[in-house]
Amino acid sequence: MPFSQEFDGKVALVTGGSSGIGRAAALAFAQAGAKVVIASRGVEEGEQAAHEICARGSDAIFVKTDVSQANEVEALVNKTVDIYGRLDCAFNNAGVTKMCSLIDSGEEDWDYIVNINLKGVWLLMKYEIAQMLKQGSGAIVNTSSVAGTIGVVNFSVYSASKSGVIGMTKAAAVEYAKLGIRINAVSPGIIQSPILETFSTKQLNQFLEEHPHPIGRFGTPEEVGEAAMWLCSEGASFMTGHNLIIDGGYTAQ
Ligand SMILES: NC(=O)c1ccc[n+]([C@@H]2O[C@H](COP(=O)([O-])OP(=O)(O)OC[C@H]3O[C@@H](n4cnc5c(N)ncnc54)[C@H](O)[C@@H]3O)[C@@H](O)[C@H]2O)c1
Repeated sequence: MPFSQEFDGKVALVTGGSSGIGRAAALAFAQAGAKVVIASRGVEEGEQAAHEICARGSDAIFVKTDVSQANEVEALVNKTVDIYGRLDCAFNNAGVTKMCSLIDSGEEDWDYIVNINLKGVWLLMKYEIAQMLKQGSGAIVNTSSVAGTIGVVNFSVYSASKSGVIGMTKAAAVEYAKLGIRINAVSPGIIQSPILETFSTKQLNQFLEEHPHPIGRFGTPEEVGEAAMWLCSEGASFMTGHNLIIDGGYTAQ
């Protein structure tokens, strides 16, 4: 079935949907027929993304959410179900990064990065799976990173959070496999998104020199968003607990 019909009548929740990879995924889900709930901290951009989807004739809402706060995540899932009646697909993608040597990282860096990237995914799955169990079906994709699998200089805290996402994805996948819920991860290489503005030009140039992508360019948010959507589709019906690397061959070297 082409994607244009695949998600008709389905409800998709995308965190970090105001920007970059999440925004691209939200637009893709909407184009494929899903009703989309966009959640992020960025209010103006989140509302803009939802508005753009509605302007194209699809259905979307924006819900301001900090994914590291249990009460906000619970409210997000409740609002999704209150408005759209169910939750079929969840792309747990909101995340932050910081480039810093291990010895210079502070406890505040650990708390900030791990609370959003790892605790956030745990909280989201906790409430999403509870809803999906009531329905007897659902598909979840969590955003990790190539830094969750291989060592990247000056990303030890970020790597810890993203490795944790892969481990938790696998554990949750086997826990709920028999109950109709599939759970996978995506691990992007360098993707041209606003997160790159976190780095100085010098840091980015040095990073790129040390980590060339064999395909010869950065990835696009759409290339990750489409892959996440495919993992939620019937085409991926026998896939669970998988970590899909989308990195232009970076980790193949
Ligand atoms: N761009 C890359 O090179 C790259 C590579 C590997 C992994 N990733 C991962 O992809 C994901 C998306 O990143 P992106 O590149 O699109 O970056 P981005 O900065 O464009 O988007 C990040 C999104 O997360 C949201 N967000 C941040 N903190 C939040 C919080 N506490 N609660 C709710 N929302 C929050 C932001 O509002 C934004 O919508 C992140 O998890 C990131 O770690 C990105």
